[in-house]
Amino acid sequence: MFEPVELYRDAHHCCLMFTDLVRGEQSVQANQFLVVDNGTGAVLDPGGNLGFNELFLGMSRHFSPQRLSYLVASHADPDIIASLDRWLTSTPAKLVISRIWERFAPHFTKVGKTEGRIVGVPDSGCRLPLGTSELWLLPAHFLHAEGNFHFYDPVSRILFTGDLGVSMVSGQEAREPVVSLAAHVPRMEGFHRRYMVSNKVLRLWSNMARKLDISMLVPQHGAPIAGSAIAEFFDWVDNLQCGIDLMDDRHYQVPTAML
Ligand SMILES: [Fe+2]
Ligand SMILES: [Fe+2]
Repeated sequence: MFEPVELYRDAHHCCLMFTDLVRGEQSVQANQFLVVDNGTGAVLDPGGNLGFNELFLGMSRHFSPQRLSYLVASHADPDIIASLDRWLTSTPAKLVISRIWERFAPHFTKVGKTEGRIVGVPDSGCRLPLGTSELWLLPAHFLHAEGNFHFYDPVSRILFTGDLGVSMVSGQEAREPVVSLAAHVPRMEGFHRRYMVSNKVLRLWSNMARKLDISMLVPQHGAPIAGSAIAEFFDWVDNLQCGIDLMDDRHYQVPTAML
């Protein structure tokens, strides 16, 4: 197992990225994140059951699980919170998730497990206290899930972008930030065309994101985007046709092909 990538560290605050906990040809590479401020922690997009044991152990080396305040979920996909039951058993953390997924999350756990332990986030987002700092939950709906948030850490100035900005690479490659976008586009394009909902929401998002002071865009799959690639990424999504932009009646025909 690789050591986690230290995306940021100072005396009071750190952001760690785990890139290779989920292995195997059948599952997509995924990143999980630990943000700690003054001894209080949050796991961002904790992931599925595949990586739980290793993430829990890896995290315990840096931080006591008993000081974990939040599991913050960008949306409700299996690679984001399928491990929820085990996190709720092993830590006192609360799940922070979109209000529109709040009543769906208990399906990942045993009966009663989520009682008093889910914080629903309104569509407009919020600022979540963490230690002496905050995590900002920014609206990123339809990128790709209907209720979806990105996480901005004002200390490290990292914007965690969930399934936006993802690239299909290995756990090893995911450790290295991309600083020039052109050669990286082929590893992002197919995914974004199919999983992102429309160019309209990409532009609404980039208008908001450009107002932030960002050191790095860090997606849930693949490599971080840094340096001049950040502005290049905004320009790329502004011009990307995807999702319903590309759908027409040819895509909605009664099938004749056998599986
Ligand atoms: Fe997803
Ligand atoms: Fe994902």
